[in-house]
Amino acid sequence: MRTQVAIVGAGPAGLLLGQLLHRSGIDNIVLERRSREHVLGRIRAGVLEEITVSALAEAGVDARLRREGLRHEGVQLSFGGERHRIDLHRLSGGRHVLVYGQTELTRDLTEARAASGLATDYEVPDVTLHAFDTTHPQVHYTRGGRPVRIECDFIAGCDGFHGVCRASVAPAALRIYERAYPFGWMGLLADTPPLDDELLYVNSPRGFALCSMRSRTRSRYYVQCPLTDSVRDWSDERFWGELRERLDPGSAARLITGPSIEKSLAPLRSFVAEPMRFGRLLLAGDAAHIVPPTGAKGLNLAASDVLMLSQALEEHYRGRSSGLAHYSDRCLRRIWKAERFSWWLTSLLHRFPDDEFGGRLQHAELEYLVGSEAARAAFAENYVGLALEPPDHPGGPASGAAGSRHDPQ
Ligand code: APR
Ligand code: PHB
Repeated sequence: MRTQVAIVGAGPAGLLLGQLLHRSGIDNIVLERRSREHVLGRIRAGVLEEITVSALAEAGVDARLRREGLRHEGVQLSFGGERHRIDLHRLSGGRHVLVYGQTELTRDLTEARAASGLATDYEVPDVTLHAFDTTHPQVHYTRGGRPVRIECDFIAGCDGFHGVCRASVAPAALRIYERAYPFGWMGLLADTPPLDDELLYVNSPRGFALCSMRSRTRSRYYVQCPLTDSVRDWSDERFWGELRERLDPGSAARLITGPSIEKSLAPLRSFVAEPMRFGRLLLAGDAAHIVPPTGAKGLNLAASDVLMLSQALEEHYRGRSSGLAHYSDRCLRRIWKAERFSWWLTSLLHRFPDDEFGGRLQHAELEYLVGSEAARAAFAENYVGLALEPPDHPGGPASGAAGSRHDPQ
């Protein structure tokens, strides 16, 4: 079997890339380890930057998002028992974010791919990559007990943090940068009205909390918790009680609780693998980087990666190779700025063990943030998403090493 691009992973990155390539007439197949139902059952954050929305529009997958997505022009910060609004719209020169669950987005992408009649093999757990350091890479797997070999021009590694693609690269060719945080997030989903029309990020003496939403009738909440906790340690009653303790009095009084429909614990991690291109293998999304969810950048980085990758592949098939040559550095410049913002916001809002001095620094920074137009504007432009570099931006290397090794064109 032959295709132009073999995409590994049917999460947001793989599915969005598949639609963007299809729109450009580039043939592709998506290979997914899990079942369609499993992928669609994942509960994930969904704060979309305008660049993400425009990428979805370019892929022709923005109709429901524009109908049901909630436009947010501000966010709220709470510390010291008081709340402060950051006017994202005014401070960013008129921009906003859309709140739309990643679960819904993945469903829209999955249905669009099916409607396009594009090949997607679910439940193929044994994908292996071959010869991606040549101009004739292959992907092998078994389908229905029979071996399948796909000859392709490129392999797109959109298979997330635990995928096979980055793991197929010789360790000596990878530079890994990572930071683990000494806490996690316990998340709860409930069919209750959200606390407010906007998201509320909380720095409290008891730890971080976040009041978010999926719609006007479905709420999403998080409380910082020890990494040693498990969902079994958090009854609904304990969760709602702890959340109330972390909220300012007015918010606590307004909180509407109800039975959880999903609870999960997520560890927080910052991670970047450099570079993102290895010959005819290109990584995108969580396969190349992870951010702590505090800044809601994970999905948006996946979208900007595949937007830049689709532009580079379109150029290649039109006879120009500069996009592919600069793909990794162009992505990494954006990724590292989002990693910085996500690390900064995580460090600002969470309680770190045995760090009273750090706690006082947090309050000084929060007071500066809410009291300074310049600081609020810097927050706003990062939160709504930094501008995408144009494809021909001189840029210069973004990775930690001088240049990147020779790659077959
Ligand atoms: N073979 C095929 N598919 C695989 C393999 C493999 N060996 N390993 C993993 N996968 C699949 C996973 O089952 C998953 O469906 O690749 C997909 C990767 O999707 P995500 O992990 O969602 O990553 P990505 O598409 O980059 O989206 C990033 O998703 O996890 C969130 O917070 C993250 O919002 C961010 C977004
Ligand atoms: C969510 O709704 O899951 C969410 C929103 C904003 C964040 C993180 C998670 O920063």
